[in-house]
Parts: sequence; C-alpha cells; structure tokens
Amino acid sequence: MADMHTGGYAEFATAAVRDLVRLPERASFLQGVVYLVNLRIAYLYYYTFGQVQPGDVLMVHAAAGGIGTLVTQIAKRRGSNVVIALASSDEKLAHCRAAGADYAINIRSADYVTEVLRITGGRGVDVSMNSVAGPTLQTDPAAIRPRGRWLINGYAGGRALLDPNAIMHKSLTLSVFSVYTVRRDEEFTKATAFLDEWLRTEPLESCTRTFPLEAAEEAHRWIEGRHSHGKIALVP
Ligand SMILES: NC(=O)c1ccc[n+]([C@@H]2O[C@H](COP(=O)([O-])OP(=O)(O)OC[C@H]3O[C@@H](n4cnc5c(N)ncnc54)[C@H](OP(=O)(O)O)[C@@H]3O)[C@@H](O)[C@H]2O)c1
Repeated sequence: MADMHTGGYAEFATAAVRDLVRLPERASFLQGVVYLVNLRIAYLYYYTFGQVQPGDVLMVHAAAGGIGTLVTQIAKRRGSNVVIALASSDEKLAHCRAAGADYAINIRSADYVTEVLRITGGRGVDVSMNSVAGPTLQTDPAAIRPRGRWLINGYAGGRALLDPNAIMHKSLTLSVFSVYTVRRDEEFTKATAFLDEWLRTEPLESCTRTFPLEAAEEAHRWIEGRHSHGKIALVP
C-alpha cells in the first residue's frame, strides 16, 4: 500500500519508497484501505494524543465515519470506556451502536451539549474527539469536564475560530493534530504493531461501500451528502 497525497485515483501510480506500507498478510486490500488512514488515526486519537484511560467517558463526533467507527471499537474493546456517539441520522446512530457506542445522539434532532450533560450527570466528558470543527468549536467546551482533553483532527463542518477563554476557563488540554506530522515517527511503528495484534484478536472492519474508479464523482457526492457510514473505497 502507499500513502499518497495526490494522484491515487488511477489504475497505476508512483509513490516514494518511504511512503510504502506493507499490507499485513492477514489483511485484504479493502481492509488495508481501512487500516492505512482510519485505523492509524484512531490509534493516534486514542493512544498518542488522547492518552485515554480505562473508564474515561468519550464523546466522538462524526462517530459513524471511518475514523469514528474504529475509535469506538478500540474504546469498547480495549479501554472499557463509555462512548457517546454523535451522528446526523438514525441509520448512522444504529451503525454507531453496532460498533459498541453506549449512547448515540442525533445532532439534527437534539442539542448534543444538553444530552451529554444529562448523560454525564452534569460533569461533561473526559475526552472529546472532534473531526468536525465548524460550529462545534464554540459548543464543545461546555460538554467537556474541567481539565478534560479536547482533540481536534479535522474540519468537515468548516473552519472557525477557537475561543481561548472557553478553553482556559475549564483548563482543557487541547491537541490539534494531523497524521502527516507523525507518519514517519515511532508512533506509526507502534500503530502498525497495534494493527498486527488487532488482526490476530479482532475482526478489522472492511469498507462499508465500494464504488468503481469510474464512479469517483458519485462517491464524492455520496460522502459530501453525508450519506456514508464506515469507510468508502474506490476500486479500479
Ligand atoms: N488531520 C489528519 O491527519 C486527517 C487525516 C484523515 C482525515 N482527517 C479528517 O478526519 C475527519 C473524519 O475522517 P473520516 O474518514 O472518518 O470521514 P468520513 O467517514 O467521511 O466522516 C465525515 C463525517 O463528518 C460529518 N460532518 C459533520 N459536519 C459535516 C459537514 N458540514 N459536511 C460533511 N460532513 C460533515 C459527517 O457525519 P454526520 O453526518 O454524522 O455528522 C460525515 O459523515 C474528516 O474531517 C477528515 O478530513 C484528518
């Protein structure tokens, strides 16, 4: 497998040797796609930047997405954590529950902060895993406990300003991270070892939907329309 920034939508492509990753023997190509980005980011979320402790209560934004699904699985199978999943449709909430989420909140029909505070008895979550940003950069601090951890890894909901006062007021630990910063670090070697162990002991989810390469445009519309859950792949 190759971790490519651009030029991957093709039958043949070139990649730098240092960006090649060996597909583990036990993994199919469609599992490899799940692994290459999603499982490694889930690992970074949970272990490297999240430093999640057993029993921590986690709030996962876009929890039905490729990364959210795997973070939920890791949290339930490795850390006995309570997972509060946020997603935008009832079908996605069902997907989150199947992945192990303890609570699933439809962000279109409920105010997620109110719901999270109700679930946590007013305390807030220990960790928020947020790949949505946008308006949630304003609302998230209210749903996180004082001295909790706030992890940001994407901005599917758009760019917006962070309010330092909200972060300071609760003494939150903020990590805004990218996989590209660490992809050649020791952490990635650890993530690979994690995958090997995961494949020995757990089923690694495969892609939930594939599109032929010629239908790339349709695949993008599907993702942009927020219809996707799990991981989507293009197959040449
Ligand atoms: N920094 C990095 O290293 C890095 C690397 C890879 C990916 N990422 C980011 O991580 C995020 C999650 O990746 P993924 O593979 O899990 O993505 P995904 O499966 O495509 O999930 C993205 C989800 O974001 C939610 N979303 C919220 N607001 C949205 C909006 N305004 N428009 C579209 N979607 C919106 C949607 O879920 P709901 O409909 O349920 O809200 C959507 O399904 C993405 O934002 C991606 O850019 C970051």
